[in-house]
Amino acid sequence: MMTQQKKGIFISIEGTDGSGKSTQIQKILDDLSARKLDVVFTREPGGTPISEKIRQILLSPEHGEMCAETEMLLYAAARAQHVRQKILPALAEGKVVLSDRFLDSSIAYQGYARGLGACVLTVNQIATGGLEPDLTIFLDLPPKEGIRRKRIEADHTMDRLEQEDLSFHEKVYQGYLETAKQSPHRVCRIDASASVDAVFAQVKAALDQCLARWDV
Ligand code: TMP
Repeated sequence: MMTQQKKGIFISIEGTDGSGKSTQIQKILDDLSARKLDVVFTREPGGTPISEKIRQILLSPEHGEMCAETEMLLYAAARAQHVRQKILPALAEGKVVLSDRFLDSSIAYQGYARGLGACVLTVNQIATGGLEPDLTIFLDLPPKEGIRRKRIEADHTMDRLEQEDLSFHEKVYQGYLETAKQSPHRVCRIDASASVDAVFAQVKAALDQCLARWDV
């Protein structure tokens, strides 16, 4: 059950590793601030002190022995705290919340790629309390290209998940495609193989539509 009245708007951005999220996030934040909206930017796993500590455990390459179930529960635990401590209060104040990843990441990475299936959604119903984004921007880039981009990024150390092989990332990608198919009311699939500006033009069109529906 959601404990607070939701008045703001909740936007998530999703994609396989290397799909260009960080670049598009910066452009989205600039765009939202030009519209004079009160914006809270956050990320998963993370966004609160407890969730950021869980993030360190999850992403550290030292924790190669972590089993899939522990991984799924830790992502869900980080999310439960994030939703209640940060996202719901901001939405109750009428803010626009932009989250770098949310539940769709768990469905794709733990549900599809780790093979945990439907229990990921069941556990995450507790974590999210039923909260769902109003708009999810899915940057659609085949993982081969995403991994290639990550590997050539200067000063980038691959985290525990990024270090997985291509077949893992292919399954993540299939998971995202499936979610996009199942939730067309909120997931906007964007061709992320185009130039930064061409990708952002599609992102901006999705934002325009979503904000136009928002009744303040
Ligand atoms: P980031 O690199 O986009 O910050 O995300 C951290 C990593 O965690 C990324 O490889 C995706 C992964 N992840 C999951 O496996 N499940 C989740 O629920 C979330 C939020 C992220």
